Amino acid sequence: MGSLSAPPSTQRITWKGLLLTASLLNFWNPPTTAQVMIEAQPPKISEGKDVLLHVHNLPQNLTGYIWYKGQMTDHYHYITSYVVDNQIIISGPAYTGRETVYSNASLLIQNVTQEDTGSYTLHIIKRGDETTGVTGHFTVTLHLETPKPSISSSNLNPREAMEVVKLTCDPETPDASYLWWMNGQNLPVTPRLQLSKTNRTLFLYGVTKYISGPYECEIRNPVSASRSDPVTLNLLHGPDLPSIYPSFANYRSGDNLSLSCFADSNPPAQYSWTINGMFQLSGQKLSIPHITTKHRGLYACSVRNSATGKESSRTITVKVSAPSGTGRLPGLNPLE
Ligand SMILES: *[C@@H]1O[C@H](CO)[C@@H](O)[C@H](O)[C@H]1NC(C)=O
Ligand SMILES: *[C@@H]1O[C@H](CO)[C@@H](O)[C@H](O)[C@H]1NC(C)=O
Ligand SMILES: *[C@@H]1O[C@H](CO)[C@@H](O)[C@H](O)[C@H]1NC(C)=O
Ligand SMILES: *[C@@H]1O[C@H](CO)[C@@H](O)[C@H](O)[C@H]1NC(C)=O
Ligand SMILES: *[C@@H]1O[C@H](CO)[C@@H](O)[C@H](O)[C@H]1NC(C)=O
Repeated sequence: MGSLSAPPSTQRITWKGLLLTASLLNFWNPPTTAQVMIEAQPPKISEGKDVLLHVHNLPQNLTGYIWYKGQMTDHYHYITSYVVDNQIIISGPAYTGRETVYSNASLLIQNVTQEDTGSYTLHIIKRGDETTGVTGHFTVTLHLETPKPSISSSNLNPREAMEVVKLTCDPETPDASYLWWMNGQNLPVTPRLQLSKTNRTLFLYGVTKYISGPYECEIRNPVSASRSDPVTLNLLHGPDLPSIYPSFANYRSGDNLSLSCFADSNPPAQYSWTINGMFQLSGQKLSIPHITTKHRGLYACSVRNSATGKESSRTITVKVSAPSGTGRLPGLNPLE
């Protein structure tokens, strides 16, 4: 005549170790009555909130009910009871001041704390049958609000495409899942980005400008979710092949020559100029007022990034034509 089947509420629970997990054990039911069920409302609890343990299908003709903390129905674990006939509530040693039992046997627990986690036992006393009660167990597992996470990086200044960077979503939080975003989107599918088994750590195999961020991580559990501030890696890269402006290189004697050089680089590159292989100056700009034919030659802009150890250069051939009326032809200046 007993029924050992679990109530439907347990079958909906799919997450391991999460939330409120309902289990009614060794529930004795008279054949004529529906199965007594306990349901938590809300089913997912976080600290400081209230939870109501609803009792459904309560049998008729009862003298009272007793709630116990845990699975033992001794005096020490006695929280509170309700006596039907005179409608009185009796508190026991396990009463914390936050539990309220209603006439329908439901139990309200206010301002839930970590100490409230665990199982609860409801003992139902039938009229004229004081010794055979009906006992149900209910397990409450509390979820903490997720903390605001932060991203820590094994290297905030990685060299381009050279280093493995490990981003970790802190702190480690039990029973939570981790999610990542780059540029506010789901992570792009690339072999350069790999998540750890728990998703808490993100490995970047060779950072390029396309995957330098900003990254955000989120910690999520059934009651809350919180996201980190964005973190962008300061990618050390370059210098790229420099460009010289203007690229125009034909001058007349007496012109002012002004060249500037630029190469994409982080940190910014150091620039230097040579003319026909001779060091001229350091800096991005080269100006020579009133040039003459003796300034003809091969101008080179060299760029160097000491953080990446890379360098590059570009040259242009500057031609200077002789002043008109002198009879000399460009490129045939005897002074050279
Ligand atoms: C039991 O009573 C409480 C308080 O009146 C109510 O909030 C709750 O919905 C009732 N539960 C059931 C299962 O009727
Ligand atoms: C809830 O409990 C915490 C400590 O457990 C206490 O600081 C807080 O005042 C309580 N809040 C209410 C509304 O009872
Ligand atoms: C309730 O219990 C009393 C005493 O055992 C019995 O006389 C009565 O018929 C019962 N009522 C119902 C509705 O079961
Ligand atoms: C890790 O994230 C992927 C999606 O990015 C998800 O499918 C998977 O279930 C997650 N794993 C864990 C352990 O949370
Ligand atoms: C060259 O620059 C000087 C000032 O430094 C200016 O006076 C002169 O007009 C400029 N010459 C030309 C050809 O632009």
